[in-house]
Amino acid sequence: MTHTFPDNFLWGASISAHQTEGAYQEDGKGLSVQDTRQRDNHAIADFKVASDHYHHYKEDIKLLSEMGINVFRFSIAWTRIFPDGRGAVNEPGLQHYSDVIDELLKYQIQPFITLNHFDLPQALEDEGGWGVRSTVDAFVHYAETVFQAYGDRVKNWLTINEPNIMLLVDKKILGKEIPIQEKYQQFHHLMIAEKYVFKRCHELITDGKIGPVPNISLVYPATSKPIDNQAALYFNSVRNWAYLDFSCFGRYNTVFKDYLKQNDVQITFAPEDEALMKTAFPDYIAMNFYTTVTVEKPLAKKEMANGISDQQSEDIMEWGFYKGFTNPYLEKNEFNWTIDPLGLKTTLQTLYDRYNLPIIITENGLGAKDELTDDGAVHDQYRIDYLKQHIEQCGAAIEAGVNLIGYSPWSAIDLVSVHEGISKRYGFIYVDRTEEDTKEMKRYKKDSFYWYQDVIQTNQLPK
Ligand code: BG6
Repeated sequence: MTHTFPDNFLWGASISAHQTEGAYQEDGKGLSVQDTRQRDNHAIADFKVASDHYHHYKEDIKLLSEMGINVFRFSIAWTRIFPDGRGAVNEPGLQHYSDVIDELLKYQIQPFITLNHFDLPQALEDEGGWGVRSTVDAFVHYAETVFQAYGDRVKNWLTINEPNIMLLVDKKILGKEIPIQEKYQQFHHLMIAEKYVFKRCHELITDGKIGPVPNISLVYPATSKPIDNQAALYFNSVRNWAYLDFSCFGRYNTVFKDYLKQNDVQITFAPEDEALMKTAFPDYIAMNFYTTVTVEKPLAKKEMANGISDQQSEDIMEWGFYKGFTNPYLEKNEFNWTIDPLGLKTTLQTLYDRYNLPIIITENGLGAKDELTDDGAVHDQYRIDYLKQHIEQCGAAIEAGVNLIGYSPWSAIDLVSVHEGISKRYGFIYVDRTEEDTKEMKRYKKDSFYWYQDVIQTNQLPK
């Protein structure tokens, strides 16, 4: 079934700062936790240069405008604005994003800016990171600074990328395991920080809009056994609803509260938190979606070694609550990530029913080992197939009444994958480098570039 999308539908493409920019110590930038963390699969040097978008942004934006996008989701590196997270503003950093914004506006591309995408300033991490309240204050001040600097030109903002994944796969993203008590105190601080910036965005920017940006995957029970359904209930709450219920309703939901109680976690609130939670709300939900998740109830401790190793869904286990399960009805990509396009429609419907806010998809895409041919082409039909199946379900969700306002897949250009380095590519634009050799970083349009260009131009999927 083909769907024509609404006239004002937002077609975009997304990236983050630390995965693309490189220039990790240039023009006064400070170090972030992404510049310092040890990586399992690839050299830390990857991130130092990444896709060199810092120096190539004009070329990249020109190519993206040729592809036809009308929104571009990117993040600001906090450490370019405040090298140590707070203190004096680093003017060259502030100027850099001002130039990026102007370049986008020159091509009528609306910026959608993520305030923070996994790259907390290392100086703040050294003081306790999101575990301490002073990081909230520093984040709010940083957000106010960029709202004031760019709010005349940038109306759409996103808060903190995937706090849920950051805490769930802490070791892989932040480079360290966080004890559960500290993890959920961090949760509280992250979510309170978000509340403050909802409020400050609305106060400081005329017509400013802002939303949370969690990674949402609906959780299925492995079987129709009631205990598996309980496992799914808890994981849905801990993975998805705890975050969005906080953002959109200003509450800790009952299942999540029980999970915290069973784990003896006590959250410390500041006196102003309750009132803030109930008064600052988002304008939309930005959602990153790669797959759905299936869980069962773990029955014996010896079953705990999961080892399925799919970072987004199956590699999850918590004694007494849930354990990842390979869904036998779904296919996987070459990196073992489950593919579930219909699950996207169901997730969108569930989300819209629950929160009744406009939704924009700010990540969705296929990581693959692309190959550049001798004549400068990349035949990524597998990515086209993935995107087609998911865009189809976006259309179906809209037809079913969901207020989906846009689709901005991952990623605009090739970038350094969080888990796998540059070998796992997501972009519409190929960046010619390998793990070891950064070469000249030449850009090439993949087949998916031309395919997506056609989708955007016609506002529908090709027949
Ligand atoms: C999302 C992150 O969770 O997943 C991105 O927001 C990341 O930063 C994406 O790149 C895909 O994960 P990976 O490990 O394949 O890069």
